[in-house]
Amino acid sequence: MGETLFENKEANVGTEVPRMLGNADFDLVVSRLALNSGTILEIGPWLGAITREFANAAPTVVVDRFEWSDSENRSYPGVAEPEGSFRSAFEKNIQETEFEVLVIESDIRDAVLPENTTFSFCFYDGPRSAEDIHYILCMLSTSFSADGQILIKNVFGSRAPEVAAYVNALLGLNVVELLPTDQPAWCNIAVLTPGPAWSQLTALEFESLLEDAPVPAAFSDPWYGHSTTIVRILWLASVHRWGHAIALLRNLPHLTENQSAFDEFEDNLGLGVNQPEMSAIFSVFKHLHQDHALETVKPLDVGTSVENRLRLIWDSVPDDLWQSERLNVTDAFTERFEKLHREIEGHVASIRDKDIAIIGPHDPELEWICLICGAQTITSVLFDTEVETLQATRLKRVHLGLDDTPNFDIAFISELPEDTERFSEFEKLPSVEMQSAVSYKT
Ligand SMILES: C[S@@+](CC[C@H](N)C(=O)[O-])C[C@H]1O[C@@H](n2cnc3c(N)ncnc32)[C@H](O)[C@@H]1O
Repeated sequence: MGETLFENKEANVGTEVPRMLGNADFDLVVSRLALNSGTILEIGPWLGAITREFANAAPTVVVDRFEWSDSENRSYPGVAEPEGSFRSAFEKNIQETEFEVLVIESDIRDAVLPENTTFSFCFYDGPRSAEDIHYILCMLSTSFSADGQILIKNVFGSRAPEVAAYVNALLGLNVVELLPTDQPAWCNIAVLTPGPAWSQLTALEFESLLEDAPVPAAFSDPWYGHSTTIVRILWLASVHRWGHAIALLRNLPHLTENQSAFDEFEDNLGLGVNQPEMSAIFSVFKHLHQDHALETVKPLDVGTSVENRLRLIWDSVPDDLWQSERLNVTDAFTERFEKLHREIEGHVASIRDKDIAIIGPHDPELEWICLICGAQTITSVLFDTEVETLQATRLKRVHLGLDDTPNFDIAFISELPEDTERFSEFEKLPSVEMQSAVSYKT
C-alpha cells in the first residue's frame, strides 16, 4: 500500500523564517502588496516572515508585544526564552531589508502610531477581539490613504466570530468596502478599503456597532455572499442578543447559499447545546426566512401548531421590537398563553388593526396574543414599576399615571380587587373608555 497524501491547505512547509500564515494566505498578501506603494503597518508580525516582504517593498511599521508563550516554545524551541521576549529573533530576521522597519513594542491597545505618517497598507494577523481592530482602525482613520488596502485575518470562517461580525458591521455602515480577490475559499483574510463613511468611524459607538449596523448591501465575502452577516447573526445569538440576531436575519438577502453558510458556522458556536430553546425557535425562523416565496399568512388567530404560530410571530413583530431585546418568544408557548387565549377568544377577532391597552400587572402573554392577532399598537399600562418601560412602534410599556397615553380602541383590564389603590388610580386615566374594556383574569 502506498502512502495516502492529504493536501494541507494551510501548509507553510520549507519557509526560511518560520511563519504561521499558510501558503495561500501568504500568496494573497504578497499579491496585494504588489499593488501598494506607500508606508505599511503590520500588526502582529511574529518572527518577521511577512515583515521581510513588506520592508523590501516599502517603509514598514510593526506593532507587537513580542511575548514568547510556552506553546510557541514547544512548537519552535530555541527561538526565545519561554515567557521572555522574542524581539531580538524578530529583528535578526529583518536585518537586511531594503526599507526601514519601525518597531513599536506594545500591546495593541496601548500602541501609538508615529505622527505625520500616512499608511496605505495595513496587515493585521490575526485579531481575536473586535475591540482590538476597532482601536487600530480608529487610529488609522486620519492617517490612511483613501485608496489604501486593509488586510485582516480571521474575517472569514468561524475562528473568531466577533471579528467577522465587526467587519460585517463596518461593511454595513459603508465605513469600509470589500475588494474582490481571487483568493481560494480557505483563505480567511478580508481585503478592505476605506468606504464613503470611513471618516465617521471614530464617532461610532463601539458598544452598539455590532448590534445595530445594517446588513451590507453588497456581498460580504467572495464565495457564499453573506457569510460575515451570517456569522454576525450567530455571534449575536451566542452572546444572548437573540432579538438583534432575529432582526438581522429578517434583513438578510435571500440566497440559496445562505443555508450552507449557516450549516458551516452554526455548530461551531454551540448554540444548540448552550441555548437549545431559542436555537430551535431560530431554526424555524431561518426556515421561514428562506420560505419567502410563500404567501404570508395573515394573522387571524394565534396559530394552532408551533410552526404556524412562529410564522405569525415572524410576520408580525417589527425589527425595532426585536431589537429592544424585551420580547421573550417562549412566552407565546406557555400554558398560560393557551388558557388566556381561550378566555378572551371572543375578542381576538376584533383586535386586528386596533389600538389596544393592557392594564394591570405586566402580562407578556396578552401582549403576544395582541401582537400575533395584528393589533396596530399595544400599550401595556403597567402596575409594576420594576418592569422597564419600552417605546417600540407596535408595543409600548408605560407606567401607570402617564397622562399622554393615547386613546385606545380596546382596553384589557385585569380583574383585580377594585379596592386596590393602584386600580382606582388607573380608573382616573382620561383615555380609558370603560365601555370598550374587556375584563380578564390574570
Ligand atoms: C498569528 S501571529 C502572527 C503570525 C505572522 N503573521 C506569521 O505568519 O508568521 C500574531 C502576532 O500577534 C502578536 N499579538 C497578539 N496579541 C497581541 C496584543 N494584544 N498586542 C500586541 N501583539 C499581539 C503576537 O505576539 C504574534 O506575534
